[in-house]
Amino acid sequence: MSKSGKEKSQRLEELRAEIQHHDELYYRQTQPEISDQQYDQKKRELDNLQAELDPLGLFAATEQGEEQDAKPDVGDDRLEAFTSHRHLQPMLSLDNTYDEKEFFEFDQRLQRIFGTGDLTYVVEPKIDGVAISLTYQHGKLITATTRGNGVEGDIVTQNILHIKGLPQFLPGSSFPELIEIRGEIFMSHQEFECINKEREKNNLPLYANPRNLAAGTVKLLDPKEARQRKLEIVLYGLGFCQPQTFFTTLSEFHQTLIDWQVPALEYFRRVSHAQDAWNSIMELDHLRHGYGYPTDGAVIKLDSFAHHAEAGSTAKSPRWAIAYKFETENQETTLEAIHLQVGRTGTITPVAWLSPVQLAGTQVSRASLHNADEIARKDIRVGDRVIVEKAGEIIPQVVEVVHSQRPSESTPFSFPKTCPSCETSLERMEGEAAWKCPNLNCSEQVKGRIRYFASRGCMDIDHLGEAVVEQLVDQGLVTRSSALYQLTKDQALSLEGFAEKSADNLIRSIEKSKQRELWRLICALGIKHVGAAAAKDLARTFRSLNNLANASLDQLIAIDGIGEVMALSVKGFFENPENQTLLADFVSLGISPELEIDESNGAPWVGKTFVLTGTLTSMTRDEAGARIEALGGKSASSVSKRTDYLVAGSGAGSKLLKAEKLGISVIDETGFVKLLEDPNSA
Ligand code: IVH
Repeated sequence: MSKSGKEKSQRLEELRAEIQHHDELYYRQTQPEISDQQYDQKKRELDNLQAELDPLGLFAATEQGEEQDAKPDVGDDRLEAFTSHRHLQPMLSLDNTYDEKEFFEFDQRLQRIFGTGDLTYVVEPKIDGVAISLTYQHGKLITATTRGNGVEGDIVTQNILHIKGLPQFLPGSSFPELIEIRGEIFMSHQEFECINKEREKNNLPLYANPRNLAAGTVKLLDPKEARQRKLEIVLYGLGFCQPQTFFTTLSEFHQTLIDWQVPALEYFRRVSHAQDAWNSIMELDHLRHGYGYPTDGAVIKLDSFAHHAEAGSTAKSPRWAIAYKFETENQETTLEAIHLQVGRTGTITPVAWLSPVQLAGTQVSRASLHNADEIARKDIRVGDRVIVEKAGEIIPQVVEVVHSQRPSESTPFSFPKTCPSCETSLERMEGEAAWKCPNLNCSEQVKGRIRYFASRGCMDIDHLGEAVVEQLVDQGLVTRSSALYQLTKDQALSLEGFAEKSADNLIRSIEKSKQRELWRLICALGIKHVGAAAAKDLARTFRSLNNLANASLDQLIAIDGIGEVMALSVKGFFENPENQTLLADFVSLGISPELEIDESNGAPWVGKTFVLTGTLTSMTRDEAGARIEALGGKSASSVSKRTDYLVAGSGAGSKLLKAEKLGISVIDETGFVKLLEDPNSA
């Protein structure tokens, strides 16, 4: 049965919230929960639904603070502790496909653009690491910057300077005056396993995979710590280049990197037909396992830079390139047991305990089984031989049972009816796949909530690792997040492995977190669907936890970027008596952050929404956004009926057209600066 319009809109909103959540985990917290393949699937579903419901893109919602003309859909890894650097040329994403037919359609599209079948491509590996942009002026490395939001990233030069082979100077004298070289930072499996072994010894939580560890290392606040982990780099791309004509083709650029003896690609093939490109992709799938860096696909690009300029880009990715993702590796092994894990929201996730097996370079002994229905549908039984897959090197999945090898005495898995931690009867909402433990005081849920509260993307409390949380909750010292602030040094000293110094460190870190911004506290509450971006929207609008707790559903829905699903979730959270107690605790413990607004002039822009587009010359867009917010206004990412002003810098594109179509006031940079000087005239 096909879905109704309302169901589709609801699904669209759900997908947006989910994707926002996964973007936050992947880019900022570097702790993804799902595989790249699962993420790509959600993105694709969202794009299709969006195209169906809003073919003209008039109501498209993008994340707060994101810029659609110049800022593509590439997530955002920027953290407040780092200085931003504006890329001279945006860092775009790549169109992905897992399908041979779609690769040939890509070629057909380009043939139509150029009116010829004779197109020269370069086929190269897609490296599964962390994107980096190196800026060289007169041959000297000036900055190393993360991708950020595609337009500006974080300067992380000090954290990667130690990388062996990272060119701090370009060799010889023949190089462009100013050049951005793009590459990927990665960590070898060997180094990854070495670090994890050490952590295991010290009873610390293990890192999920080399990519996340590399991303986390690049973003360490202490370069000394970063230097202790061995990162590597490979360079493959050209950003801005002055003079522009220094390189005419990509293959020439790759060859120059090799001649300069900088870490360049081991494989790139220049081919003149799509079929040859396809053959190279297949060849690369075999060869890639011998490379020093992890790869998850091939990238096929037009060779000529003039062709790149002519083909142009969409808001997300260039039309002159496509990534073909390789099938993920799988292995057969024995399912030894099924254990149930309780998440911070009470969701029960069945986990497969496997006979250890080598997969995509690491040893795998646990895999996700998703939920009870999935186990029943695939009839997965303890003792079965199963196929395990590691998609995108995140959490391995049990994809299939080898029925021919099923032991004769096996019986179907019967999903427990009670919580493995607190033995409360499990519940399942109609239409939902997951079983939940409804007991908010279940110790596993409490631990999950405390871990989340203290995590880097929330209250960012150091020295509060998994083992510490485990003890605090098991010993009854902490039953909810607010209780962390009542922890005494004596209690900390009673924890296993704690001495004077570690107890002091823990208490000091907890105390320090009292000063965190309001949005972090909102995010840390763990309200369903509310990630960092939504928390910032809520903080900006309500400016204190108390105001937010008293907000009506209408007030919540009126916020650009907060849909009905999220609004209901926020409302439900604050209506729960347990959560009301938690808020009262925060207030009595002196944790009541407020968003400061320059009240000297009466916050004249409260209720006014601005959208910034194009390039501003007197300030960056982030600075402009901060000035708007200081006056009480909101800086939104996409133009909608609720926009009051579109500030159009030079090169403004589709947003300007949309604002004009919707009859919204458009001002240029001079007009904006005048408004800032005389805010009451807005
Ligand atoms: S080209 C404008 N080439 O994949 C073109 N990207 O999904 C964008 N990546 O941000 C980059 N290997 O971090 C390109 N050979 C390769 C790549 C590659 C890995 C990463 C890069 C990019 C992401 C896009």
